Amino acid sequence: MKPIRDLHDWVLTHDRSFHAISKVSSLPDPTYVCEGKEMVSFSSNNYLALAHDPRMIAAAREGLECYGVGNCESRLLGGDMDIYRDLEALLADLKGKDEAMLFATGYLTNLGVLGALTRTNLIARAFGYRAKSREKYVFFSDESNHTSIREGIRLSGEPKVTYKHADMNDLERLLKASDATCKIIVSDGVFSMDGDIAPLPDLIRLADEYDAAIYLDDAHGTGVLGKNGGGTTEHFAVNSPRLISMGTLSKAYGAIGGFIACESYLANILRYTCSAYGFTSTLPPDQVYAVRKAIEIIQSEPERRQRLWSNQHYFVTRMEEAGFQLLSKETCIVPVLIGDMELCEHYASVLEENGFHVDSVLFPAVKIDQSRLRFNVNAHHTTEQIDRLLEVLVEQQRSGWNRK
Ligand SMILES: Cc1ncc(COP(=O)(O)O)c(C=O)c1O
Repeated sequence: MKPIRDLHDWVLTHDRSFHAISKVSSLPDPTYVCEGKEMVSFSSNNYLALAHDPRMIAAAREGLECYGVGNCESRLLGGDMDIYRDLEALLADLKGKDEAMLFATGYLTNLGVLGALTRTNLIARAFGYRAKSREKYVFFSDESNHTSIREGIRLSGEPKVTYKHADMNDLERLLKASDATCKIIVSDGVFSMDGDIAPLPDLIRLADEYDAAIYLDDAHGTGVLGKNGGGTTEHFAVNSPRLISMGTLSKAYGAIGGFIACESYLANILRYTCSAYGFTSTLPPDQVYAVRKAIEIIQSEPERRQRLWSNQHYFVTRMEEAGFQLLSKETCIVPVLIGDMELCEHYASVLEENGFHVDSVLFPAVKIDQSRLRFNVNAHHTTEQIDRLLEVLVEQQRSGWNRK
């Protein structure tokens, strides 16, 4: 394919943002082995280090032995096993909702649900349904939302207006000006690239005032925020029938999969109209077993999350003492703004040479001049690891940090 071959030739001579992928031979716990060298990850979403927990492995093994390797069939056909329904009930309960729906990944959840929400009436036409009125849908999307949200909205084919990051005045201005009959506000719960928490109580207030629905992607809040790991809703102790709560199983839960939790009427319709639910397979049974165990461990071992938050506090305090400009310090995602793409990659590679993997987050994940180093704190980081990371950073700072 010529366009791709041309791009490839360009990449070979201008390699900046296309990373050479290192060969990793164990997964971060948060220490891991990469090309024979022991590394410490400040990048993994395995926040609670559950992916390697022996109880999780035993649970997954039990799932494998009981049910085999995959489900191999859509849940709308013969694949609707009771273990999926049981996990959905647990997740619905955690999010304070009537029902939950599982998907193979979090990415697919956003693509599928956002793509389907506005099309349910069209699909039902094939069965003779005629909507009472013609709706005008508009999505109101935070500018820092995850790529899968942007892609999901694009799939819906409906218009989107973008509000400034977490800016409720800007959102209200746009809601007020809109003539949409069905407004859907979409936001990350914990912003994956900024690390801050969406102002959910304000989102709910505006949704009530302007008769809107809210779709909250709580990929990074689920399992981490709130007393029971319920996420952003539990953190603020708020909920609303207007709220569709989305989460992933691939971060704090250490497995794979995605879900939404919502009102029954919505789940009943989406099970038939969302093709990412009905026209594909779902997560394998061993993952269901592992996630059930993760939820149990998170609820019965608060000390695990306390360790995560005490590491987060220690890391943030040390970074601030050292004079770094943190973009946010509310969650386990702590970004440091660098701005320039090349400089950001340079610092990530110096850290890599010193045994630390840190994400350099570049365009298109963030705006082109907003490159940043993103540190993900983990419950299993040791004080010594954080201290050593700081030593490397401070050394870089002295030799020209943030200067080109
Ligand atoms: C905010 C957000 N939503 C959705 C996803 C996709 O989740 P998954 O990796 O489970 O597909 C991610 C993944 O990084 C994310 O950060």
